[in-house]
Amino acid sequence: MTLEISATAPYTYPNSQAAFARARKVIPSGIYGHQGPTEGVYVPQSAFPLFSARAEGSRFWDVDGNEYIDYMCGYGPNVLGYGDPDVEAAAAAQRQLEDVVTIPSSIMVDFAELLVDTVASADWAFFAKNGGDTTTLAVMTARAATRRKKIVFVNGFYHGVAPWTQKLDYPGVIEEDVAHNLYVDFNDLPALRTLFSEHRGEIAGLIAQPYMHGNFVDNELPAAGYWQEVRRLCDEYGVVLIIDDVRAGFRLDLAGSDHYFGFKADLVCFCKALANGYNVSALCGRESLKDTVSSLSYTGSYWMSAVPFAAGIATITKLRELDAPAQFVRLGTELTTGLVSAAADNGFTLVSSGAPALFYLRIADDNSLMLHQEWVAECVQRGIFLTSHHNHFLNAALTSADIGRTLEVAHEAFGIVRSNHPDLAPSV
Ligand SMILES: Cc1ncc(COP(=O)(O)O)c(C=O)c1O
Repeated sequence: MTLEISATAPYTYPNSQAAFARARKVIPSGIYGHQGPTEGVYVPQSAFPLFSARAEGSRFWDVDGNEYIDYMCGYGPNVLGYGDPDVEAAAAAQRQLEDVVTIPSSIMVDFAELLVDTVASADWAFFAKNGGDTTTLAVMTARAATRRKKIVFVNGFYHGVAPWTQKLDYPGVIEEDVAHNLYVDFNDLPALRTLFSEHRGEIAGLIAQPYMHGNFVDNELPAAGYWQEVRRLCDEYGVVLIIDDVRAGFRLDLAGSDHYFGFKADLVCFCKALANGYNVSALCGRESLKDTVSSLSYTGSYWMSAVPFAAGIATITKLRELDAPAQFVRLGTELTTGLVSAAADNGFTLVSSGAPALFYLRIADDNSLMLHQEWVAECVQRGIFLTSHHNHFLNAALTSADIGRTLEVAHEAFGIVRSNHPDLAPSV
């Protein structure tokens, strides 16, 4: 395997384009959803590859043979490095035994015990496949436990694609799907107090990410005391507090992002980083809600497959051994500090927001976002895979040498953007 990326001309993507032309004939939109070119985070599209060919450690290669240091990590699942040898060995050993069978493997119990031991607010774990399976289960649980209908959302949320998470004007969504949704801004406690008191006795649950990692906006951390007051209000009004830790889970704190921010949720949704890319998600929760979850009709064909459980056990065990969240703070701080100074060297102010493990980037003083897109495009075409309007992800296979190479390319890319805009006044 070659680990050096040579300084070459910008990448081109003829094989990606050819595969996409074929894809459009047989797959709706060619590549649907967030990994496709239509949803807005790969802008301008011409700068990005469309199909990958292989991946290892901190890198992947596209179908044109271009190599990338990957700061998207499959949108989160790659937490230890692609093809991590310990996770692969555990998965292979389990595959030799069994995977999807008529009754579950007892490795499911081992995995649940490990999560209960690792996640501070978990007394039990319920496994499914996608993050959206767990957010839907959490909302159903809150409704069943309280016998109430309304759910509070935080504006800018993303909890998957089930109809209850969508907006009324989206195709296929009907009024009834979202009729009981209430919305409030993040960090706005007065608004939350008003909402709770106006709907006393009606609100089943509040669902929120631990902090706001929205697209096209700086990511927003909770104000001091915010979560503690939300917890207190939920207790006062009998509202189930659901933390959607699908994206941030196990990158901030192995005990859960609610633990990281100093409070205890009633239900916590995990997915992405749970098994280093093997397909499993988990809803964890408090003892008091266990019987309610048991009462629900909720399952799926592959939800008890054993190989992802083995991968999950190996992943969580290794994340604990490495103290991966501490590693992510160190690597993420080194990276984002370096990017900010590479920008400054070229007369740009780069704003990094959110936690270092999930940093979000934006070039300041450019409301059109075009300069930022231009810079990201130059980076991607030189082997540094960033997206223009989404938070990024770190993995534990990333090295300081990778970061060094990233900063070299970032510097060059800022220089190119600067020379493309000779009339632009330096912003620092
Ligand atoms: C915060 C959050 N919640 C829920 C989901 C949905 O997870 P999935 O796509 O696995 O259903 C995502 C996916 O990106 C997410 O980031």
